[in-house]
Amino acid sequence: MNTTIPAPAVALVVAAGSGVRLGAGMPKALVRLSGRSLVARSLDSLAAGGVAEAVVVAPAGHLVEFEKAVTDSPIPVRVVPGGGERQDSVQLGLSALDSVDGPVLVHDAARPLVPARVVSAVIEAVRGGAVAVVPVVAVTDSIRRLTDEGSEMVDRSTLRAVQTPQGFDPGVLTRAHELVRERGLLVTDDAAACEAAGHPVTLVAGAAESMKITTPADLRFAEALLGD
Ligand code: CTP
Ligand code: MG
Repeated sequence: MNTTIPAPAVALVVAAGSGVRLGAGMPKALVRLSGRSLVARSLDSLAAGGVAEAVVVAPAGHLVEFEKAVTDSPIPVRVVPGGGERQDSVQLGLSALDSVDGPVLVHDAARPLVPARVVSAVIEAVRGGAVAVVPVVAVTDSIRRLTDEGSEMVDRSTLRAVQTPQGFDPGVLTRAHELVRERGLLVTDDAAACEAAGHPVTLVAGAAESMKITTPADLRFAEALLGD
């Protein structure tokens, strides 16, 4: 019988954005969804899927409020300051991690309702040897691409929308972000950083509930999902 205990999964929860499009007058991750902040709900969801500890990357001017918002987290959390772009926040979070052997998940606090099954599928894929894992969903809208002449139909059957948490081999993620920084690249997510470093990206099934909260309407949709 194999009794090896796998190294615990840790999460970086990026929450250092200001939430301009939500327009709540406070950092988006502190906004409450049915009474509980987006950052606290994100930690609940990650813990339910098997994450053992987390680093929350928060806006530099709001560290005390974030410390308060995560006090009842089901897993140990450290709060560290983030940077100007999302990738700066990820890099600052990575440098705050002590030596890590197990999977590192990078999650947007703006996706508080990610189901446990998605989190655990990401962790298991990394434990199974994938170095960069991305949860995706099919695109349901018809898509058109703008051209010089007007627009043209795009075959949506080959498209997937990307969610978080994305999961990584810790060394691969750290080196990929070093490369992105050295080359001055702008990447929209962490799998793209790994791809720029030449690594394959593995897809797992995401979920509709993992919707990203961007606008006030998204917050109302999420409340409806919770049955409130
Ligand atoms: N993020 C971050 N550091 C930044 C920018 C974004 O940690 N400098 C985080 C956000 O807190 C969020 C995630 O990245 O959890 C995705 O970003 P987005 O949904 O765009 O959030 P905001 O940047 O806060 O929103 P907006 O663009 O409307 O201001
Ligand atoms: Mg943003």
